[in-house]
Amino acid sequence: MKIDQMKIKECRACNNPIEEFMTFGQMPIANDFMKEKKDNEYFFEMAPAFCNKCFTFQLVEQPEADMMFHEDYAFFSRQSKFMQIHFKEYANWVLSNYSQGDNDFIVELGSNDGIMLENFANKGIKHLGVEPSQNVAMVAQEHGVNTEVSFFGYQTSKQIIENYGNASAILAANVMCHIPDLNDIAKGAYNLLNEKGVLIFEDPYLGDMLEKVSYDQIYDEHVYIFSAISVQNIFGSHGFELINLMPQTTHGGSMRYVFAKKGQRDIQPIVNEIIENEISNGFDKESTYIKFKENCELSKKRFRDILIKAKDSNKTVAGYGATSKSTTILNYCNVGPELIDFISDTTPIKQNTLTPGKHIPVLSYEYFKENIPDVIILFAWNHANEIIQKEKDEIDKNVEWITHLPFFELKL
Ligand code: TMP
Ligand code: ZN
Repeated sequence: MKIDQMKIKECRACNNPIEEFMTFGQMPIANDFMKEKKDNEYFFEMAPAFCNKCFTFQLVEQPEADMMFHEDYAFFSRQSKFMQIHFKEYANWVLSNYSQGDNDFIVELGSNDGIMLENFANKGIKHLGVEPSQNVAMVAQEHGVNTEVSFFGYQTSKQIIENYGNASAILAANVMCHIPDLNDIAKGAYNLLNEKGVLIFEDPYLGDMLEKVSYDQIYDEHVYIFSAISVQNIFGSHGFELINLMPQTTHGGSMRYVFAKKGQRDIQPIVNEIIENEISNGFDKESTYIKFKENCELSKKRFRDILIKAKDSNKTVAGYGATSKSTTILNYCNVGPELIDFISDTTPIKQNTLTPGKHIPVLSYEYFKENIPDVIILFAWNHANEIIQKEKDEIDKNVEWITHLPFFELKL
């Protein structure tokens, strides 16, 4: 790729010059559902880049944090039963693999409403949530989860050591990929952890995104889509070593990464297996991302063709789940109310709003049940099993279920 000398941009992680390899075009804020159309709706250019030095997939331009996370941003993890089970398992896995007994002190970054930490709190284990949003932090405190309203970084790590001592484990889930300055996080984490301490986080996995062409994982909040080789490079340059990996089915395919201080713990065989797999699949090569771009373009054409054909046949079409991810799909594919009649969502604050950018009405699940369309687009495809299970006996067998994903088979 030729780098335009006038427009050199730097990798957020390692400062190497990088260049966007594609653009998804003008994108609104993924969660900016609105009661009525705005005159000044905010858009940014959503263009991913790949760093050929640290191999990190990232967004070059990202809206300011206060555009995305504000007092109206009410994302409460606790609302999902499935995620409650997931976090209970996550907590038990941490304890059975990385407990330091009486020395346990578990810190979670972006602890939200305490959905994970309450599993430690209930066992009387010393813990601390570090959460920047006050509204969710208050819910955590109501559930007995010790929480401080703050961003995490090197400065915060010093205060935590002063007030509580060193941590045995630092955890995060769907948080790390939101944070632009990972170097400050890595420095803070290294400082806060004791000698045998571990840093464990999980986020949507690049391997799943490339394989499924699930480009809808990319939206304003997700500044990175990680692979093992990229996080190894970023955190490795701060004294950490990748010691374990665990693929996850959550969020359409995620990866759990475990780091320890160099030389302090054994490296599990799966680390090399996954890294070799990433290298043999070219995660370190620009050509892989050019292929991804082409796959996105094919996916866009396929999705538009399906919708245009449905409309030409006078079929009614509705979306299932007004997800953050659907904002990327609808805006990239230029799909609005002319092709999709409405989107059903169970979240009260999203109901009777318009989707960001394309302004498709979001209506209640009750409305959907009374107005079952001919074609249902499953935007919450990462919950496909759960949803199909729930709906299959109730919805007429002739209703067509689809997703925008070209290589994803819906098992009806
Ligand atoms: P998210 O993927 O951005 O977290 O959003 C998921 C959205 O999908 C959320 O608004 C709730 C909605 N949803 C439904 O409406 N019905 C469902 O069965 C599920 C699982 C999600
Ligand atoms: Zn880099």
